[in-house]
Amino acid sequence: MRIVSISEDKNIEKRISITPEIAKKFLASGFEITLQENYGEHLGFKDNIYKDLGVKILQDEKLIFDGGDIITQVGLPSQEKLSHIKENQILVGSLNPYANNNLIKDLLKRKINLFSLELLPRITRAQSMDILSSQANLAGYKAVIESFANFEKAIPMMMTAAGTVPAAKVLVVGAGVAGLQAIATAKRMGAIVFATDVRMASKEQVESLGGKFLVVEGSENMETEGGYAKETSEDFKKKQEKLLEETLKKIDIVICTALIPGKKAPVIIHDKMIDKMQSGTIIYDLAAVQGGNTALTKVDEIIEKNGVKIMGERNILNKLPVSASSLFAKNIFNFVMNLYDDKDKKININLKDEIIEKTLIK
Ligand code: NAI
Repeated sequence: MRIVSISEDKNIEKRISITPEIAKKFLASGFEITLQENYGEHLGFKDNIYKDLGVKILQDEKLIFDGGDIITQVGLPSQEKLSHIKENQILVGSLNPYANNNLIKDLLKRKINLFSLELLPRITRAQSMDILSSQANLAGYKAVIESFANFEKAIPMMMTAAGTVPAAKVLVVGAGVAGLQAIATAKRMGAIVFATDVRMASKEQVESLGGKFLVVEGSENMETEGGYAKETSEDFKKKQEKLLEETLKKIDIVICTALIPGKKAPVIIHDKMIDKMQSGTIIYDLAAVQGGNTALTKVDEIIEKNGVKIMGERNILNKLPVSASSLFAKNIFNFVMNLYDDKDKKININLKDEIIEKTLIK
């Protein structure tokens, strides 16, 4: 059983799916591995580190794919590279099936087995494979670091002989995995933290981290069976707008994380709300690629309006690719081991296993 992986397009993706640590674990479990030349060099993982472990390094993408039973990637490779993949091969990664619909359809026609880890069910057994959680955690942390670095005042309260600097006030919109990590990070740095979400289950989690939960008056719990948020009603939107419009006037930093799976991100912070915010406020929008939680967000740009800066990047994980790859590669390893039948020494696409059934694109 050979696992192969080619270099990601490093202009847009610095993470890798096979770190040396994970290569070692796969090899110890009886797998063979082929990677492309300079696969992890940009992260400090030179080819020799992999070679010393027993990994085969090749240059030609077609040759690499030809020898593979399982291909692991962070993102879906380009159409040209995908043309080298053959019938019955298995491709595992963060394939973003909603955005890559056409490429995926073509691969399915060619009878390639596609596993997209964004589709994992949120069940206990899948936690060690959950790329959405592992990456969102890091993204939430880094969004706070990035916005604090751009904020022109201090974060913690400081009482000095020259006077008192007040603590910064942070609002986290969407208290899922990224939001909870943002709350924890901002609290640790001394900020006063507020958060809001449409799922009432998150109230207790926010409070346990020392945040103040802002409840939209008269709201009902909008959580799906899978633990995600539903789209909100017009009435809810109005009430949320009223609550946030008042709150935002006093806030220094906003971290936006609100998402609805498979849909455009909800616009929660409108133009007129931004107009009323204090000059110097930073909004970091982690939902930028999905359309953004503010009306003004533009991917990879810093928009400035009345002194309010709105930031949002295509891939914040490129700012901590070593940590992100370490967790991503572990998720991939745990997923592949669940696909692998240790007794028969082969892959078993067992559709009775909820993890396999839900992640296989059909
Ligand atoms: P997500 O990335 O889809 O959304 C982020 C957050 O935005 C969510 O908390 C969502 O409720 C919130 N949101 C959506 N629309 C909103 C709006 N209009 N206003 C305010 N907030 C809004 O969600 P994420 O972070 O992936 O996690 C969602 C759920 O999955 C949570 O219930 C979490 O506890 C659960 N989970 C369960 C795991 C498990 O293995 N049991 C592992 C990881 C997460």
